[in-house]
Amino acid sequence: IGGWGDIGCLTSLVWLGAGAQLTIGQYGMLARAVQQFSWQLGGIMRSLNTLHEESLYLGDLYEFLDLTAPQASPGAADVGQDLKNLPLRFEQVSFHYPDGDLVLAGIDLEIRPGERVALVGENGAGKTTLVKLMMGLYQPTGGRVLLGDKPLLAYPQDRVRQLFAAVFQDFVRFQFPVRDNIAFGALGQAASVERAAELAGAAPFIAELPGQYEALLGKELGGADLSTGEWQKLATARALAREAELVVLDEPTAALDPKAEAEVYRRFGEMTKGKASVMISHRLGAARAADRILVLKNGRIVEQGTHEALMHKGGEYSRLFSLQAQWYE
Ligand SMILES: Nc1ncnc2c1ncn2[C@@H]1O[C@H](COP(=O)(O)OP(=O)(O)OP(=O)(O)O)[C@@H](O)[C@H]1O
Ligand SMILES: [Mg+2]
Repeated sequence: IGGWGDIGCLTSLVWLGAGAQLTIGQYGMLARAVQQFSWQLGGIMRSLNTLHEESLYLGDLYEFLDLTAPQASPGAADVGQDLKNLPLRFEQVSFHYPDGDLVLAGIDLEIRPGERVALVGENGAGKTTLVKLMMGLYQPTGGRVLLGDKPLLAYPQDRVRQLFAAVFQDFVRFQFPVRDNIAFGALGQAASVERAAELAGAAPFIAELPGQYEALLGKELGGADLSTGEWQKLATARALAREAELVVLDEPTAALDPKAEAEVYRRFGEMTKGKASVMISHRLGAARAADRILVLKNGRIVEQGTHEALMHKGGEYSRLFSLQAQWYE
């Protein structure tokens, strides 16, 4: 079409030129002007094309901005009710990610206030998914997650959020000063920042930073960079600075050396005294101190009990435990 358009253009130019009796020079100028106009028109069309393509991404953005958090059904639960001493229960919970296979199936579980639970199992068993359901971050695709005798969703969501604090495997590295990094989890509780850093074992390296608690972090903004283990301790401090009832530690020690790891578990025990906790770890030695160990395999709870009971049983847990004992000999 472009070719025929050019030919058409030139023909009309010749015709115009003949009719208006243009000189060769005028004719050349006219031809150039027409050519330049056609290039610029092409450029504008290409820009419009790009604009259209980019606007498709904007569609995604607006869709994202329009997402709303799940709303509590009004009047379903007493807003003034104290949520602190309620057990958390899973009733035949199953879950799959959008377009994915079933990741959890037939989960029945109760976590009592103050109980210390360890969650163990191989990679992909569903541990992280399970704690995200527990915190109301995901909604079950089958069954129910209850707080007391009502679904988590029946309570005001801000109150539910306050119940939980978590350090996930993919913890966030905020490019902000140390103090803000920790206080994000505890707005209005500034005094708890230093205590939380102390408990999480972050205080010693913070003391070494220029400006200590005011030190800017993250090398993108010209701040100090930390090691993975140090960032993780900071994320732990952030979770601890909050007055949560149930603290989740998802594999907190993966980036720590064995000595620091033992220290984190000892402190975690101290920090979460009187609170419920769920600790996920691949190092089974860390699970020993829990009141109850849950063994997850292919999305199902296959065993639960104390370390001693599970070792005695001689099932999946004892198999995993003896496997690891060999590495540490
Ligand atoms: N965001 C996601 N979208 C789709 N599938 C996911 C997503 N997150 C996890 N999965 C899948 O769900 C299953 C369970 O994952 P999950 O992260 O809960 O396991 P895990 O026990 O925490 O594993 P790990 O020990 O490696 O941390 C896996 O098969 C995983 O591939
Ligand atoms: Mg995980």
